[in-house]
Amino acid sequence: MRIVRYMVGASVLVVSAFAACVGDDGATGPAGPAGTAGAQGTAGPEGPRGLTGDAGAAGVGVDGGIATSCLSPCHGFGGIVEQWKTSTHYATFIANLGGEEVATWTGKTPCGNCHAIDALERRVAGNVSPGPDGGAINVKNGELGYRSATGTLAESTYSGTAKVAAVTCVTCHAVTDATDPHRTGATWTPKSFPLRVASGAADDVFLEKSPSTAAVTGMSAGKLGASNTCVFCHRSRKDVTNYITAANPITSRYWGPHDGPQTDVYTGLGGYHFTGKTYGNSTHQTKVNCVDCHMPTVKANSDTPNHSFYAQLSSCLTCHAGATNFDIAGGQSQVRASLRELEAAMNALGWLTRSETAPYLPLAGSQLTDNAFELDRARPGGGPDGGTLSLTADQAGALYNYFLLARGGAAGAHNPKYTRQLLFDSYVAVTGTAPATLVRPP
Ligand code: HEC
Ligand code: HEC
Ligand code: HEC
Ligand code: HEC
Ligand code: HEC
Repeated sequence: MRIVRYMVGASVLVVSAFAACVGDDGATGPAGPAGTAGAQGTAGPEGPRGLTGDAGAAGVGVDGGIATSCLSPCHGFGGIVEQWKTSTHYATFIANLGGEEVATWTGKTPCGNCHAIDALERRVAGNVSPGPDGGAINVKNGELGYRSATGTLAESTYSGTAKVAAVTCVTCHAVTDATDPHRTGATWTPKSFPLRVASGAADDVFLEKSPSTAAVTGMSAGKLGASNTCVFCHRSRKDVTNYITAANPITSRYWGPHDGPQTDVYTGLGGYHFTGKTYGNSTHQTKVNCVDCHMPTVKANSDTPNHSFYAQLSSCLTCHAGATNFDIAGGQSQVRASLRELEAAMNALGWLTRSETAPYLPLAGSQLTDNAFELDRARPGGGPDGGTLSLTADQAGALYNYFLLARGGAAGAHNPKYTRQLLFDSYVAVTGTAPATLVRPP
């Protein structure tokens, strides 16, 4: 799979998204047509922003002549726009997703449901393909999976036409002509930027995991407030309850949860749970959520949330006084050691590879010590004599759990207790003995 990052395109988008802020005089002409489009709904204004590549020239003006009312909290030094530009959300302009999963991310693929600039806007409107609600029962709460007419597991596909893959202001915020300061010319007032995803105290958000194999209904991840937004995208895309069956042939290196299943780990719900075991949660799951740890407010910036989106050490200090890094009480180091041990055990059985194309070689040498667990993929042809690898339910569940933690566990920080329970049970399922790095379950 190849990703082409269009950093140049990114700057053009930023500039154009805020071009109206730059100089009122220059913008007077275009303002007429924009008003007309506004009457048609929010989707209208967004298209033009993405396409205003020519406005790049106006970007020069940002440095020189930005209106004072635009500076705080967005465009000032250390403001929201600068923070966002340090994030991977800004860096992601996935225009060419190649590989065996998808030929193009527009059209009949699920990819745009999270990667397109208008991903959330369409999903909260229930506007995914195919059909009303795309077949998914809780699509407005984030669920995309459903069972097709023929009974197989299916994922709603993206119904839009956007060609820009980005997570930008208008992806997460419901900017309308009434709330867009670039159109109203008004000074920003707190809470004037509503989120697209419902984030009230009563609004919950769904994971793909179903409570039983009888239905594909998803499962509530809880009422996470503003963090409901993150859950829409940072999730497994697989319904583990229905995905793991009695026999699991591994025929694709994309087997398992998608990149970024952080919510599945954080909620303590998204793993494969072995029969007879219980799965608890750490205080992280009960007391804090995504936005608390990743977007603490910045005092110097009108108390707005940090938009770099990376976890911030300052958010740990209320509970872990004096912490100097995320490896609190050596917790992340311990989880990495256990992940390494599980990785080695699965690799010895021929289940893992980092090869992008055949022949799919098992991990070797430094790949087993570099802690880059997120690079590991399932190994097609890892069976006896290079034949199809077919795993039992518990073996496949263990492999699924490994990928879940490798891709979204933040080395335990998302839910230390749940992470260790999954690691322990998965290692036992694969080897029959307890791991040396985790002698008893947490
Ligand atoms: C439910 C939301 C969702 C859907 C649907 C989705 N993705 Fe993703 N994808 C994500 C998230 C979130 C990440 C980032 C994970 C991280 O970095 O922690 C990601 C990451 C990726 C990456 C890695 C990007 C990088 O820079 O490392 C690729 C490649 C990718 N997705 C391709 C696809 C393709 C192809 C499809 C369609 C077949 C797809 N995605 C569908 C949410 C989704
Ligand atoms: C990945 C989603 C996401 C993106 C992208 C994003 N924001 Fe936010 N933004 C949030 C969340 C979540 C909050 C917190 C809301 C809360 O706590 O109620 C927030 C809060 C804010 C606030 C403070 C709340 C308010 O209404 O005044 C402002 C201003 C803001 N964002 C502006 C922006 C701007 C400008 C951009 C683009 C540079 C941007 N955001 C990009 C998710 C996002
Ligand atoms: C519309 C989908 C979407 C939403 C909503 C979203 N993200 Fe992301 N996020 C992504 C994608 C896609 C990437 C991958 C970027 C890449 O790998 O190039 C990503 C990357 C990230 C990264 C960097 C991961 C890494 O490995 O470097 C963090 C941290 C992050 N997101 C946090 C958040 C938080 C916190 C929220 C909620 C406020 C949020 N995201 C909401 C899609 C989304
Ligand atoms: C609301 C309080 C609270 C916040 C905020 C918090 N933690 Fe924790 N954390 C705890 C508690 C309590 C435990 C131990 C018991 C448990 O898991 O419930 C813990 C355990 C941990 C562990 C496992 C330690 C071990 O013994 O192995 C790590 C690692 C960790 N936290 C990292 C972080 C990081 C990093 C942050 C900030 C990004 C953070 N925590 C924020 C309360 C908190
Ligand atoms: C207790 C605080 C805490 C909470 C709650 C939390 N995170 Fe994190 N997150 C972290 C820490 C710490 C890291 C790892 C940073 C590191 O090790 O460099 C991290 C890493 C990440 C990453 C980077 C890739 C990875 O998985 O290692 C993404 C994306 C992410 N978190 C998204 C989320 C989302 C989405 C939620 C809510 C469902 C969430 N986080 C909840 C603290 C938290």
